[in-house]
Amino acid sequence: MKKVLVSDPLPDSALTELRRYSIVDVKTGASANELRAIIGEYDALIVRSQTQVTADIIEAGKKLQIIGRAGVGVDNIDLDAATERGIIVVNSPTGNTTSAAEHSFALMMALARHIPNANASLKSGKWERSKFVGSEVRHKTIGIVGLGNVGAEVARMALGMDMNILGYDPFISADKAERLHIKTVTLEELFKNSDFITLHIPLLDSTRGLIGKKQLDMMKDGVRIINAARGGLIDDQALLEALQSGKVGGAAIDVFEVEPCTDSILFQSDKVIATPHLGASTKEAQDMASTQVLDQIIDVFNGKPARFSVNAPRVPADAMAVITPYFTVANAAGIIASHFGKGQVKEIVIKYEGELSKHDSKALKAMVLSAMLNRITEEKASTVNAEKMVANRGIKVIEQKVDEVDDYEGLLTVEMHTTEGIVTVSATMMRNEPHVVRINDFWLDFVPQSSGNFLFVEHKDQPGLVGAVGRITGESNINISHMLLARLEPRGRALMIMTLDEIVAEDQRQRILQLPDIKSAMSMKF
Ligand code: NAD
Ligand code: MLT
Repeated sequence: MKKVLVSDPLPDSALTELRRYSIVDVKTGASANELRAIIGEYDALIVRSQTQVTADIIEAGKKLQIIGRAGVGVDNIDLDAATERGIIVVNSPTGNTTSAAEHSFALMMALARHIPNANASLKSGKWERSKFVGSEVRHKTIGIVGLGNVGAEVARMALGMDMNILGYDPFISADKAERLHIKTVTLEELFKNSDFITLHIPLLDSTRGLIGKKQLDMMKDGVRIINAARGGLIDDQALLEALQSGKVGGAAIDVFEVEPCTDSILFQSDKVIATPHLGASTKEAQDMASTQVLDQIIDVFNGKPARFSVNAPRVPADAMAVITPYFTVANAAGIIASHFGKGQVKEIVIKYEGELSKHDSKALKAMVLSAMLNRITEEKASTVNAEKMVANRGIKVIEQKVDEVDDYEGLLTVEMHTTEGIVTVSATMMRNEPHVVRINDFWLDFVPQSSGNFLFVEHKDQPGLVGAVGRITGESNINISHMLLARLEPRGRALMIMTLDEIVAEDQRQRILQLPDIKSAMSMKF
């Protein structure tokens, strides 16, 4: 019989069905060493957010077939290590959506009506009715950053409360936003015009510190901010100062960069309401998230595919020889297209030409989409779930096949249609290496090898500009191993692609952006 280890608290009732198929051991609160010592006996591991499933624990889990995360974020699981070891990782993307949205809403109402402070005051023997005059949320503007599962649910609730809804999420279609009565705006517009701002985005390199002093300064006086997504999205020190100056009227925080957290600097302010990561802490959410995960474990034990797998790529056996090398091509094309795309995505077109057109393209399509999605979602996209994630966002994917192609044996082209235009990226295989041959109007040839760090700079062709960028990388001790320049005409639109030994840090990228005639500077890894 299969053996399952449950290392974080789950409702016992949810485990009943699983016990019919396997021996289930519940050992919560184990240290990393203890876990490493016992994991070798188990076929499945089920966690919530506390257990850190690191590469060495995965390595020690010699029999592990599946890891289940009873929640959304898989940031506590080393996905690459699991995928490398062929371990299926599954999560529950929607099990706690309602609870997280309701908690965010409860925090917003508590801020609007001073409920925690009024409760404390009354219980300390005071009757202070005038001190706790609040504000209605009706007809106020709520700004929702991140319109995935939780953000969309918050929008539905806000609509019911007669609020005006502003939303920002680069990966949602205009149709879906319209259906939810959300006016999509830029992040800056959202910050400037909202009475309440609520975050529902993952913590990624691109979202860490999303709200800092600059963003707080542009907000309305007295704005109230809610974060029940992930710690690290807001700069705590800047928020504390904005609360102390009165710029921010109140903040409600459910999540912290390091958890458990009992001594945040934010606790100094009585305008802060704090809860210990309770977004998903309802009986219903825990039951549903556990059930979604346990059902998948039973399916996998029974040889069926997992419904919400976050890894596990699949290639049809007869297409392996041709398709497998194009995975790196598809990955690079997806990453580049998602970086170059601006505005809301409406449609993605994937074109397979030459030898590619003759095979099942499902796996490549999934690879392109997961590469695009992985830049923006913590709900780790993989070849298994990317198509569904894109469909859920109301984005159309069109595939086109063309038998013949000049100059190449096979060519894969990604077109990303957004509200701001079309981004086109074409790539191929040559000499057993992936080659990117087109980015928008630029025909070029470079190898997106996975070991390199890449800097893409759109600029105006003119003397001295390459040197100016090189000076910044040089001063930062970043070594350039290769450089490519493409331009449309002399002194016209140009693109510089640098392959670097070291990664360009955000402050260096910002310095490059300050140079005259630079349109964009994008750091990428493949
Ligand atoms: P989701 O993946 O469905 O949605 C996340 C959305 O964020 C996506 O639509 C994505 O396009 C968008 N996004 C990514 N980067 C963005 C950016 N820079 N600006 C704007 N939008 C961006 O995830 P979800 O289920 O809605 O959860 C949202 C977050 O809340 C996750 O971090 C999740 O882990 C967290 N969460 C917390 C609790 C809790 O207990 N407090 C419970 C559930 C979820
Ligand atoms: C999640 O990512 O699902 C939430 O943070 C809740 C949890 O960790 O259980």
